[in-house]
Amino acid sequence: MGPRALLREWAERHDVRGEGRRAVVVGCGLGADAEYLARLGFETTGFDVAATAVRLAAERHPGSTVDYRVADLLDLPAAWRHAFDLVVEIFTVQALPDPPRDRAIAGVADLVAPGGTLLAVAFRHVAGVDPAAGPPFSLTRASMERLAADGLEVVRAEELDGPLWRVEYHR
Ligand SMILES: C[S@@+](CC[C@H](N)C(=O)[O-])C[C@H]1O[C@@H](n2cnc3c(N)ncnc32)[C@H](O)[C@@H]1O
Repeated sequence: MGPRALLREWAERHDVRGEGRRAVVVGCGLGADAEYLARLGFETTGFDVAATAVRLAAERHPGSTVDYRVADLLDLPAAWRHAFDLVVEIFTVQALPDPPRDRAIAGVADLVAPGGTLLAVAFRHVAGVDPAAGPPFSLTRASMERLAADGLEVVRAEELDGPLWRVEYHR
C-alpha cells in the first residue's frame, strides 16, 4: 500500500514537490506510487496495460485525484508525448524481454516534458547473471543509458544493493 522506498527516499532527499506540475507512473500496478506523487502535489496519471490493475488501483483509492488509465507503453496516446514533468518508471521495462524492451524504453523517454525528470528503478545486471534470463531481466548500464536517448541526459546513476539501478534523467 505504500510507495516504493527508492522513490520515497529520492523525493525526500531532493525535497520534490509537485506544485501542480504533471507526473506519470508507468506500469502503475495497484497505484501506491501514483498516490504518493499526488500527495506531493503532482497532477498525477497512472497507467498500466493490465485493466485489472487499473480497476483495483481505482477501487483501493476511492476519492483519489490520480487519473488511472489503461494504456500500453508500446502504443501510448499521442497527447502524452513530452507531456509530464516527472516520469516514474519502476520495474516495468525490465519485465519485458528484448524485443520489445527497446520500444518500451523509447516510450518511457517520450513521456518526459522539456525541463522534466525521469526516475527509473530496475534490477541491475551483475557479472555471472544471464541478461537474457527472466522476467525480471536484469538491465545493463547500456540499457539504462538507452533511456537517455532522444534528448534526455543522465543526471545521476546509482548502483544500489539488490542489485538495483536508480537513475535520474533530465530533458
Ligand atoms: C513488475 S510490475 C511493477 C509494478 C509497479 N511499477 C511497482 O513498482 O510495483 C510491472 C507492471 O508493468 C505493467 N506492464 C507490463 N507491460 C506493460 C506495458 N506494455 N504497458 C504498460 N504497463 C505494462 C504490468 O501490468 C505490471 O503492473
